[in-house]
Amino acid sequence: MLIRILGAAAGGGFPQWNCSCRNCADVRAGKPGFRARTQCSLAVSANGSDWVLLNTAPDLRQQINETPELGARADGGLRNSPVKAAVLTGGDVDFIAGLLNLRELQPFSVYGSARVLATLADNSVFNVLDSSVVPRRELPLGTATPIEGGGRDTGLVVEAFAVPGKIALYLESGASSDNYGSREGDAIGLKVSAPASGKSFFYVPGCAVVDPELAARLKGAALVFFDGTLYTDEEMIRQGLMQKTGQRMGHISISGPEGSIDALAPLGVKRKIYVHINNSNPVLDENSPERRATEAAGWEVGLDGMEIRL
Ligand code: MLT
Ligand code: MN
Ligand code: ZN
Repeated sequence: MLIRILGAAAGGGFPQWNCSCRNCADVRAGKPGFRARTQCSLAVSANGSDWVLLNTAPDLRQQINETPELGARADGGLRNSPVKAAVLTGGDVDFIAGLLNLRELQPFSVYGSARVLATLADNSVFNVLDSSVVPRRELPLGTATPIEGGGRDTGLVVEAFAVPGKIALYLESGASSDNYGSREGDAIGLKVSAPASGKSFFYVPGCAVVDPELAARLKGAALVFFDGTLYTDEEMIRQGLMQKTGQRMGHISISGPEGSIDALAPLGVKRKIYVHINNSNPVLDENSPERRATEAAGWEVGLDGMEIRL
Protein backbone atom coordinates (compact mmCIF):
# COMPACT_ATOMS: atom_id res chain seq x y z
CA MET A 1 0.00 0.00 0.00
CA LEU A 2 1.22 3.47 -0.95
CA ILE A 3 0.15 6.50 1.05
CA ARG A 4 0.91 10.09 0.19
CA ILE A 5 0.15 13.12 2.33
CA LEU A 6 -1.35 15.64 -0.09
CA GLY A 7 -1.90 18.27 2.60
CA ALA A 8 -1.00 18.25 6.30
CA ALA A 9 -2.46 21.60 7.43
CA ALA A 10 -5.82 22.28 9.05
CA GLY A 11 -8.51 24.52 7.59
CA GLY A 12 -6.91 27.72 6.30
CA GLY A 13 -3.63 26.05 5.38
CA PHE A 14 -0.14 27.24 6.22
CA PRO A 15 0.22 30.14 5.75
CA GLN A 16 -3.43 31.12 5.97
CA TRP A 17 -4.35 33.84 3.47
CA ASN A 18 -5.30 36.49 6.03
CA CYS A 19 -3.04 35.53 8.93
CA SER A 20 0.16 37.11 10.15
CA CYS A 21 0.56 35.10 13.32
CA ARG A 22 4.19 34.30 14.05
CA ASN A 23 4.21 31.00 12.19
CA CYS A 24 2.37 32.38 9.15
CA ALA A 25 4.62 35.44 8.99
CA ASP A 26 7.75 33.28 9.32
CA VAL A 27 6.76 30.75 6.65
CA ARG A 28 5.77 33.57 4.32
CA ALA A 29 9.16 35.19 4.88
CA GLY A 30 10.93 31.91 4.06
CA LYS A 31 12.52 31.61 7.50
CA PRO A 32 14.56 28.38 7.84
CA GLY A 33 12.67 25.66 9.71
CA PHE A 34 9.26 26.60 8.31
CA ARG A 35 7.57 24.77 5.44
CA ALA A 36 4.23 25.65 3.88
CA ARG A 37 1.44 23.11 3.91
CA THR A 38 -1.86 22.77 2.10
CA GLN A 39 -5.10 21.63 3.70
CA CYS A 40 -5.77 18.16 4.98
CA SER A 41 -5.91 15.27 2.52
CA LEU A 42 -4.25 11.89 1.88
CA ALA A 43 -4.06 9.73 -1.22
CA VAL A 44 -3.85 5.93 -0.95
CA SER A 45 -3.25 3.18 -3.48
CA ALA A 46 -3.19 -0.58 -3.06
CA ASN A 47 -1.88 -1.32 -6.57
CA GLY A 48 0.10 1.82 -7.48
CA SER A 49 -2.27 2.80 -10.27
CA ASP A 50 -5.75 3.32 -8.79
CA TRP A 51 -5.89 6.01 -6.09
CA VAL A 52 -8.38 6.87 -3.36
CA LEU A 53 -8.48 10.32 -1.78
CA LEU A 54 -9.16 10.58 1.93
CA ASN A 55 -10.88 13.97 2.14
CA THR A 56 -10.85 16.55 -0.63
CA ALA A 57 -9.34 19.84 0.49
CA PRO A 58 -9.96 23.18 -1.23
CA ASP A 59 -6.32 22.87 -2.42
CA LEU A 60 -6.98 19.64 -4.30
CA ARG A 61 -6.26 21.02 -7.76
CA GLN A 62 -2.79 22.13 -6.64
CA GLN A 63 -2.24 18.87 -4.75
CA ILE A 64 -3.06 16.75 -7.81
CA ASN A 65 -0.86 18.87 -10.04
CA GLU A 66 2.04 18.46 -7.62
CA THR A 67 1.60 14.67 -7.45
CA PRO A 68 2.50 13.03 -10.79
CA GLU A 69 0.80 9.73 -9.79
CA LEU A 70 -2.54 11.53 -9.56
CA GLY A 71 -2.46 13.29 -12.92
CA ALA A 72 -4.11 12.14 -16.15
CA ARG A 73 -1.87 9.67 -18.00
CA ALA A 74 -0.54 10.53 -21.43
CA ASP A 75 -1.47 7.05 -22.68
CA GLY A 76 -4.87 6.85 -20.97
CA GLY A 77 -7.08 8.48 -23.59
CA LEU A 78 -8.18 12.09 -23.85
CA ARG A 79 -9.89 12.15 -20.47
CA ASN A 80 -8.67 9.88 -17.68
CA SER A 81 -7.76 9.94 -14.02
CA PRO A 82 -6.15 7.50 -11.59
CA VAL A 83 -8.43 8.97 -8.88
CA LYS A 84 -11.18 6.38 -8.46
CA ALA A 85 -12.82 7.44 -5.21
CA ALA A 86 -12.93 10.05 -2.48
CA VAL A 87 -13.77 9.12 1.11
CA LEU A 88 -14.95 11.96 3.35
CA THR A 89 -14.53 12.00 7.13
CA GLY A 90 -16.74 15.01 7.82
CA GLY A 91 -18.57 17.93 6.28
CA ASP A 92 -15.94 20.58 7.12
CA VAL A 93 -15.05 22.97 4.31
CA ASP A 94 -11.46 21.69 4.36
CA PHE A 95 -12.72 18.13 3.80
CA ILE A 96 -15.34 18.57 1.08
CA ALA A 97 -14.67 21.75 -0.92
CA GLY A 98 -12.11 19.98 -3.13
CA LEU A 99 -14.89 17.90 -4.66
CA LEU A 100 -15.68 20.96 -6.76
CA ASN A 101 -12.26 20.56 -8.41
CA LEU A 102 -13.26 17.08 -9.54
CA ARG A 103 -16.09 18.15 -11.86
CA GLU A 104 -15.64 17.57 -15.65
CA LEU A 105 -17.57 14.31 -15.99
CA GLN A 106 -14.82 11.99 -14.77
CA PRO A 107 -16.21 8.78 -13.26
CA PHE A 108 -15.26 8.16 -9.62
CA SER A 109 -17.18 7.50 -6.38
CA VAL A 110 -17.75 9.65 -3.32
CA TYR A 111 -18.06 7.84 0.01
CA GLY A 112 -19.23 9.40 3.26
CA SER A 113 -21.37 8.80 6.33
CA ALA A 114 -25.11 9.32 5.92
CA ARG A 115 -24.67 12.66 7.74
CA VAL A 116 -21.99 13.88 5.34
CA LEU A 117 -23.89 12.72 2.26
CA ALA A 118 -26.92 14.67 3.54
CA THR A 119 -24.76 17.80 3.70
CA LEU A 120 -23.67 17.29 0.08
CA ALA A 121 -27.30 16.77 -0.92
CA ASP A 122 -28.33 19.99 0.85
CA ASN A 123 -25.77 22.06 -1.04
CA SER A 124 -26.78 22.03 -4.68
CA VAL A 125 -23.42 23.33 -5.88
CA PHE A 126 -22.18 19.74 -5.48
CA ASN A 127 -24.56 18.74 -8.26
CA VAL A 128 -21.78 19.85 -10.62
CA LEU A 129 -20.69 16.28 -9.91
CA ASP A 130 -23.42 14.57 -11.93
CA SER A 131 -24.52 11.63 -9.78
CA SER A 132 -24.93 9.40 -12.83
CA VAL A 133 -21.15 9.81 -13.38
CA VAL A 134 -20.03 10.32 -9.76
CA PRO A 135 -22.16 8.11 -7.53
CA ARG A 136 -22.39 8.94 -3.82
CA ARG A 137 -22.15 5.86 -1.68
CA GLU A 138 -22.91 5.59 2.00
CA LEU A 139 -20.10 4.39 4.20
CA PRO A 140 -21.92 2.55 6.97
CA LEU A 141 -20.27 2.94 10.37
CA GLY A 142 -18.57 -0.16 11.72
CA THR A 143 -18.64 -2.11 8.44
CA ALA A 144 -15.65 -2.87 6.22
CA THR A 145 -16.63 -1.49 2.81
CA PRO A 146 -14.76 -2.26 -0.44
CA ILE A 147 -13.94 0.97 -2.26
CA GLU A 148 -14.73 1.00 -5.95
CA GLY A 149 -15.08 3.69 -8.56
CA GLY A 150 -14.56 4.53 -12.18
CA GLY A 151 -15.34 0.90 -12.99
CA ARG A 152 -12.46 -0.35 -10.82
CA ASP A 153 -12.17 -2.23 -7.57
CA THR A 154 -9.39 -0.25 -5.90
CA GLY A 155 -8.30 -3.17 -3.72
CA LEU A 156 -8.86 -1.01 -0.65
CA VAL A 157 -11.39 -1.62 2.09
CA VAL A 158 -12.46 1.14 4.46
CA GLU A 159 -14.15 0.84 7.82
CA ALA A 160 -15.56 4.09 9.15
CA PHE A 161 -16.15 4.55 12.86
CA ALA A 162 -17.56 7.44 14.86
CA VAL A 163 -15.06 9.40 16.96
CA PRO A 164 -15.71 12.07 19.58
CA GLY A 165 -15.91 15.31 17.64
CA LYS A 166 -18.14 17.99 16.28
CA ILE A 167 -20.37 18.90 13.37
CA ALA A 168 -18.86 21.28 10.77
CA LEU A 169 -18.65 24.90 11.92
CA TYR A 170 -21.15 26.23 9.35
CA LEU A 171 -23.72 23.59 10.39
CA GLU A 172 -23.60 24.27 14.11
CA SER A 173 -26.91 24.87 15.83
CA GLY A 174 -28.20 24.89 19.39
CA ALA A 175 -26.41 24.72 22.67
CA SER A 176 -23.05 23.49 23.86
CA SER A 177 -24.92 20.90 25.95
CA ASP A 178 -26.06 19.40 22.62
CA ASN A 179 -22.50 19.67 21.21
CA TYR A 180 -23.91 22.27 18.76
CA GLY A 181 -26.19 19.79 17.03
CA SER A 182 -23.48 17.16 16.43
CA ARG A 183 -24.66 13.61 15.80
CA GLU A 184 -23.01 10.27 15.16
CA GLY A 185 -21.33 10.32 11.75
CA ASP A 186 -20.35 13.99 11.86
CA ALA A 187 -16.79 13.10 12.83
CA ILE A 188 -15.45 9.75 11.72
CA GLY A 189 -12.15 7.96 11.65
CA LEU A 190 -11.16 5.46 8.97
CA LYS A 191 -9.42 2.12 9.06
CA VAL A 192 -8.00 1.63 5.57
CA SER A 193 -6.95 -1.89 4.62
CA ALA A 194 -5.49 -3.59 1.57
CA PRO A 195 -6.66 -7.21 1.93
CA ALA A 196 -4.22 -8.45 -0.72
CA SER A 197 -1.21 -7.39 1.37
CA GLY A 198 -2.86 -7.63 4.78
CA LYS A 199 -1.72 -4.08 5.60
CA SER A 200 -3.84 -1.40 7.24
CA PHE A 201 -3.63 2.03 8.82
CA PHE A 202 -5.87 4.56 10.57
CA TYR A 203 -6.79 8.09 9.51
CA VAL A 204 -8.33 10.29 12.21
CA PRO A 205 -7.94 13.94 11.17
CA GLY A 206 -10.56 15.36 13.53
CA CYS A 207 -11.06 14.07 17.06
CA ALA A 208 -11.95 15.71 20.38
CA VAL A 209 -10.96 12.98 22.84
CA VAL A 210 -9.26 9.59 22.74
CA ASP A 211 -11.93 7.58 24.55
CA PRO A 212 -11.42 3.95 25.58
CA GLU A 213 -13.17 2.70 22.43
CA LEU A 214 -10.86 4.64 20.12
CA ALA A 215 -7.81 3.64 22.18
CA ALA A 216 -8.81 -0.03 21.83
CA ARG A 217 -9.13 0.34 18.07
CA LEU A 218 -5.75 1.98 17.60
CA LYS A 219 -3.89 -0.46 19.86
CA GLY A 220 -0.96 -2.06 18.04
CA ALA A 221 -1.66 -0.32 14.72
CA ALA A 222 1.14 -0.16 12.16
CA LEU A 223 0.40 3.48 11.30
CA VAL A 224 -1.93 6.23 12.56
CA PHE A 225 -2.49 9.66 11.05
CA PHE A 226 -4.02 11.77 13.79
CA ASP A 227 -5.55 15.18 14.54
CA GLY A 228 -2.64 17.54 15.24
CA THR A 229 -4.65 20.77 15.09
CA LEU A 230 -3.30 22.43 18.24
CA TYR A 231 -0.43 21.91 20.64
CA THR A 232 -2.33 23.39 23.59
CA ASP A 233 -6.07 23.88 24.02
CA GLU A 234 -5.91 27.66 24.46
CA GLU A 235 -3.20 28.50 21.95
CA MET A 236 -5.47 30.41 19.56
CA ILE A 237 -6.83 32.52 22.42
CA ARG A 238 -3.34 33.18 23.80
CA GLN A 239 -2.07 34.23 20.38
CA GLY A 240 -5.04 36.58 20.00
CA LEU A 241 -6.29 34.77 16.89
CA MET A 242 -9.73 33.61 18.02
CA GLN A 243 -11.76 33.25 21.20
CA LYS A 244 -12.13 29.48 20.92
CA THR A 245 -10.41 26.59 22.63
CA GLY A 246 -9.49 23.45 20.76
CA GLN A 247 -12.17 21.57 22.69
CA ARG A 248 -14.78 24.08 21.52
CA MET A 249 -13.69 23.33 17.94
CA GLY A 250 -13.82 19.55 18.49
CA HIS A 251 -10.05 19.08 18.46
CA ILE A 252 -7.86 17.37 21.03
CA SER A 253 -4.48 18.98 21.78
CA ILE A 254 -1.13 17.33 21.18
CA SER A 255 0.29 18.09 24.65
CA GLY A 256 -1.01 17.89 28.20
CA PRO A 257 -2.52 15.16 30.33
CA GLU A 258 -5.55 14.83 28.04
CA GLY A 259 -3.50 15.30 24.87
CA SER A 260 -2.88 12.84 22.08
CA ILE A 261 0.80 12.19 22.89
CA ASP A 262 -0.14 10.82 26.30
CA ALA A 263 -3.29 9.11 25.05
CA LEU A 264 -1.51 7.12 22.35
CA ALA A 265 1.71 6.49 24.27
CA PRO A 266 0.58 3.19 25.82
CA LEU A 267 -1.02 1.81 22.65
CA GLY A 268 2.06 0.43 20.90
CA VAL A 269 1.35 2.16 17.58
CA LYS A 270 4.38 1.66 15.33
CA ARG A 271 4.24 4.93 13.39
CA LYS A 272 2.33 8.07 14.42
CA ILE A 273 1.99 11.10 12.18
CA TYR A 274 0.17 14.36 12.91
CA VAL A 275 -1.97 15.86 10.16
CA HIS A 276 -4.62 18.65 10.13
CA ILE A 277 -2.09 20.93 11.83
CA ASN A 278 -3.33 24.47 12.47
CA ASN A 279 -1.06 27.35 11.52
CA SER A 280 -0.93 28.48 15.17
CA ASN A 281 0.71 25.19 16.22
CA PRO A 282 4.32 25.61 17.44
CA VAL A 283 5.28 22.15 16.09
CA LEU A 284 5.30 23.75 12.62
CA ASP A 285 8.54 25.48 13.66
CA GLU A 286 11.14 22.75 13.15
CA ASN A 287 13.41 24.40 15.71
CA SER A 288 10.85 24.83 18.50
CA PRO A 289 10.98 23.00 21.84
CA GLU A 290 7.43 21.80 21.15
CA ARG A 291 8.59 20.18 17.91
CA ARG A 292 11.48 18.49 19.70
CA ALA A 293 9.16 17.23 22.45
CA THR A 294 6.70 15.86 19.88
CA GLU A 295 9.40 14.00 17.98
CA ALA A 296 10.99 12.77 21.20
CA ALA A 297 7.60 11.28 22.06
CA GLY A 298 7.77 9.21 18.87
CA TRP A 299 5.55 11.32 16.60
CA GLU A 300 6.21 12.72 13.15
CA VAL A 301 4.83 16.06 12.03
CA GLY A 302 3.12 15.55 8.68
CA LEU A 303 4.38 17.38 5.61
CA ASP A 304 2.89 17.69 2.12
CA GLY A 305 4.40 15.14 -0.24
CA MET A 306 5.43 12.68 2.49
CA GLU A 307 5.17 9.15 1.12
CA ILE A 308 4.73 6.03 3.19
CA ARG A 309 4.89 2.44 1.98
CA LEU A 310 3.15 -0.17 4.09
C1 MLT B 1 -12.11 22.56 11.96
O1 MLT B 1 -11.33 21.67 11.68
O2 MLT B 1 -12.36 22.84 13.15
C2 MLT B 1 -12.79 23.29 10.87
O3 MLT B 1 -12.19 22.99 9.64
C3 MLT B 1 -12.85 24.74 11.14
C4 MLT B 1 -13.34 25.54 9.97
O4 MLT B 1 -14.26 25.11 9.25
O5 MLT B 1 -12.81 26.63 9.74
MN1 MN C 1 -10.69 21.26 9.73
ZN1 ZN D 1 -1.44 32.01 11.20
